[in-house]
Amino acid sequence: MKITYLGHAGFYFEASKNIAIDPFITGNPLAKNKVKDVRADLILVSHGHGDHLGDAVPIARQSNGTIVAVNELAIFCANKGANSHCMHIGGSHVLDGIKIKLTPAWHGSGYGGECPLEYVGPPCGFVFHLDGRTIYHSGDTGLFGDMELIGRLNKIDLAMLPIGDNFTMGPEDALEAVKMLKPGLVIPMHYNTWPLIKQDPVKFKSEIESNTSSKVAVLAPGESLEY
Ligand code: NI
Ligand code: MN
Repeated sequence: MKITYLGHAGFYFEASKNIAIDPFITGNPLAKNKVKDVRADLILVSHGHGDHLGDAVPIARQSNGTIVAVNELAIFCANKGANSHCMHIGGSHVLDGIKIKLTPAWHGSGYGGECPLEYVGPPCGFVFHLDGRTIYHSGDTGLFGDMELIGRLNKIDLAMLPIGDNFTMGPEDALEAVKMLKPGLVIPMHYNTWPLIKQDPVKFKSEIESNTSSKVAVLAPGESLEY
């Protein structure tokens, strides 16, 4: 499979099925990809903040794909004209042959820039199985102990984890997350998009690789990995 880092928390998997996660391109100062080039069967959206919902609706519409999200956010997307599938935390379902489970995340989730924000359900993460790989995208979250359970119930090949701090885990807590999840490979995300979440991913890589048996792939926005 080919994994492209769209920047921020956004990823684009091209495999037997194409999957986009939190595709935030428009308005992302670091984005290199174009919205029109993302063709996804499934678009996983972790929560309703603009830097995650991003371009999910136009990508779903141009791809005739389906947005997968918690019930409230999936209904919100359907009202914007996208196909969507409602799930909720702890539930799993097979869509297009891909088994997806929603995991907890400690964060917020309101849509819009003015008060009151529109309620679009709680944030989540995703565990999904694509072409023999088990993949975890935590969404925006702080560190939580049930990551140990996620790591125990799944043999995680790849984990995408935030390291930006302020809104999510920082690098030190992400190291603790890796110790619980025990993934083969980690891709750090949700950093350097703005000065407030500035981090050094190379330092993170060396911390993880010297303290755990996981490997780290640091991808620049727009960069791809054959995996
Ligand atoms: Ni957020
Ligand atoms: Mn975010």
